[in-house]
Amino acid sequence: MTHLEPIKVLFVCLGNICRSPMAEGIFRQIVKKKGLINRFQIDSAGTSRYHIDEIPDERTIRACSEKGIQLDHLGKEIIPMHLEEWDYILAMDSSNFENIQILKNKTSGNHKAQIIKMRDFDLMHKGKDVPDPYYGGMDGFYEVFDMLERSSYELLRYIRREHSI
Ligand code: 4NP
Repeated sequence: MTHLEPIKVLFVCLGNICRSPMAEGIFRQIVKKKGLINRFQIDSAGTSRYHIDEIPDERTIRACSEKGIQLDHLGKEIIPMHLEEWDYILAMDSSNFENIQILKNKTSGNHKAQIIKMRDFDLMHKGKDVPDPYYGGMDGFYEVFDMLERSSYELLRYIRREHSI
């Protein structure tokens, strides 16, 4: 059997403790349910170094565990090399998107990643930001969960079309 390179999907926010680890967990659960997990490598990162090596925010852990999603992630920072390694980089908001664009100038020019805002895949509110829930209450985390779930289904459809799987 031929060896297939995994399709590499990286979710990115600011702190890598609220939105992007949640997106990583949701997307992984959906991919697993579709029986496609062997085809994917899925991870998340932040544009800042604020929470390196920290577990996700307790409210993210709670919103996910209530939906049967266990998170196994420690905070990491996105670096220019990631743009050369990952196929899809999903920015949670416009600020994250701009900060990822800046990293392009620091690569050797071989950035293969498609850099896309996550909610370009939210058919209900195309192109909006995933709001930062960090300074709010639990409600904000549940809202973020719902928009990430909607977007994840459409993101997976998009990737499956692109790779004919
Ligand atoms: P995230 O949320 O980008 O969704 O992980 C944040 C978490 C922490 C901070 C900002 C946003 N912070 O400033 O520490």
